[in-house]
Amino acid sequence: MNNLPQKYDEASRPIGVFDSGVGGLTVVKELNRLLPNERIIYFGDTGRVPYGNKSRETIIHYSLQVAYFLMKKKIKMLVIACNTASSVSLPTLKRHFHIPIIGVIEPGAKAAIENTSTNNIGVIGTLGTVKSNAYKKALKKISRKVNVYQDPCPLFVHLAEDGWNKNKIARMVADEYLKNLKGKDLDTLILGCTHYPLLKEVIQSSVGNKVALIDSGKETAKEVKRILDKRHLLNSRKLTEKNHSIFYVSDFPHKFKEVSQRFLSKELKHVHKVKL
Ligand code: DGL
Repeated sequence: MNNLPQKYDEASRPIGVFDSGVGGLTVVKELNRLLPNERIIYFGDTGRVPYGNKSRETIIHYSLQVAYFLMKKKIKMLVIACNTASSVSLPTLKRHFHIPIIGVIEPGAKAAIENTSTNNIGVIGTLGTVKSNAYKKALKKISRKVNVYQDPCPLFVHLAEDGWNKNKIARMVADEYLKNLKGKDLDTLILGCTHYPLLKEVIQSSVGNKVALIDSGKETAKEVKRILDKRHLLNSRKLTEKNHSIFYVSDFPHKFKEVSQRFLSKELKHVHKVKL
């Protein structure tokens, strides 16, 4: 009974979410939908995006800088929304900080295993995510029976950011990228990149309706809810105008507003540029 007020206070603290840029807003969208009372402090490393083609060392270095910044905001939990950063930085961040930290890989892998009956699972993501084999390791850890087929689809990031996510060029690019995976009798395909949910329609029509698409961001939001609930850290109070989510970026690229609106499906208020 004694620690109730303390828990109450802790529960009202924000969730930290970070990504290499605006892509992580697809995860914020799912968090907002599932946990409308939660305040989010987001950091998008728009000045240094993309992470997908950078080395492990660089991504870990960037992730630590961002995590230190968010820790100063007294977050109760950290979500690494970026698949590339989740793939390589999660163990390091977990060693450095003592709040719950999750990436998007395990939740995506878990959902894929629950869905598959052919045991043939595909993974698409950035070059960094695919090269790290993070999804493959996470999938094999849950079930040794599964066959995992991976392919990087780097152009999808640019198509999503430019709003070319439903046109014929997107379809042509999807057909080209996915042609090897199509011969593998997949019944499950993990969208292992923040941007890919925006190309869902095109990817689905390219691989066909028999393949279920797993949105790692969506699965991660469910996992965040589960973890906070278990620790009695869900915020029970409604958010107010004063108590809103805040978005930090390391640069304001041209078209930032337009792109972020596309990812979040609403206007992004309270955006600040900061230097790490
Ligand atoms: N956010 C990245 C990811 O999910 C995609 C963009 C990038 O390469 O930084 O892997």
